[in-house]
Amino acid sequence: MTTSMRQTGSIDAVPVIDIADLGSPRALQAIDLACREWGFFQATGHGIAAADIIELFDVASAFFAQPAEAKSRILRSGENPWGFFDKELTKNTRDWKEVYDYGPADGNLLIPQWPDGLPSFQTAVQRYYEDCERLAYRLLDAIARNLGIAGGHLANSFEGSHSSFLRLNYYPKCPPEIAAEPDNSPFGVNQHTDAGALTLLLQDQQPGLEVFCDGTWHLVEPMPDALVINIGDIVQVWSNDRYKAGLHRVITNPQRDRFSVPFFFNPSYSTNYEPLPTMVDADNPPRYRTINWGEFRALRTAGDYADYGDEIQITHYRI
Ligand code: OGA
Ligand code: NI
Repeated sequence: MTTSMRQTGSIDAVPVIDIADLGSPRALQAIDLACREWGFFQATGHGIAAADIIELFDVASAFFAQPAEAKSRILRSGENPWGFFDKELTKNTRDWKEVYDYGPADGNLLIPQWPDGLPSFQTAVQRYYEDCERLAYRLLDAIARNLGIAGGHLANSFEGSHSSFLRLNYYPKCPPEIAAEPDNSPFGVNQHTDAGALTLLLQDQQPGLEVFCDGTWHLVEPMPDALVINIGDIVQVWSNDRYKAGLHRVITNPQRDRFSVPFFFNPSYSTNYEPLPTMVDADNPPRYRTINWGEFRALRTAGDYADYGDEIQITHYRI
């Protein structure tokens, strides 16, 4: 299959879009179609330096290769979500993965935690976080244009105090006898949509990420030069369901470890979101009540830590 066929919206594979010229009608239309059909695309021409990416994967593998005891010295906690964690639940099932979350200090309870003895870790993580932040604003502007609204209108919910974070994911290879456990076979991450606005995901060359579209699961083929971009629940709500947050999951791999690095682009906690005025008219009444991000996030996080019954979903706010 050629790249140009993918760009016209074949449902065979997640579309691949060159975003070097993000404001061009070609790129904007391709993104609009991808957001409607998949909620996912692979972006080439994203402009993040290859050296930053190589350095990031280097420090991520060095970090997770440390003994468990070293990693648990920087455990995340109920008060401070930044740090190491290996007991996450998605849809109340245990994920087969370890994570390290980085977000900036907020002058209050949020404090980044850095591992000892890995001198380039902090620089590489912070540099890549800033790379993602810049790119995320550009993508947000493209989405705003596609939704018929001034870019600044959406960016207002982020500037100054967005609640984005970078996650290093380590999916250890899963022994076949565990992968084969009847009714209990783990996922790297069980199926979910991302709750925030946009996710910019770097994956290594090990397959594992799958997206649900048109009734089946599709592998997101690893591409060395691409970032996987997906829209989260917030963009779905803004678009009044013109766009869908793609359902995705990570399957386990019996042979090899896998690394991935999502950047979750999330607005300020005080943000209230609802269908945009440009997406609502007499034929398309608003499909969601107003949602407060801080409140939604707190309810979702509770589900990540323990079995509290059903995870909160945007469908709870459907009109
Ligand atoms: C996530 C996620 C995908 C991946 O962390 O929310 O969907 O490939 N990760 O690691
Ligand atoms: Ni996800």
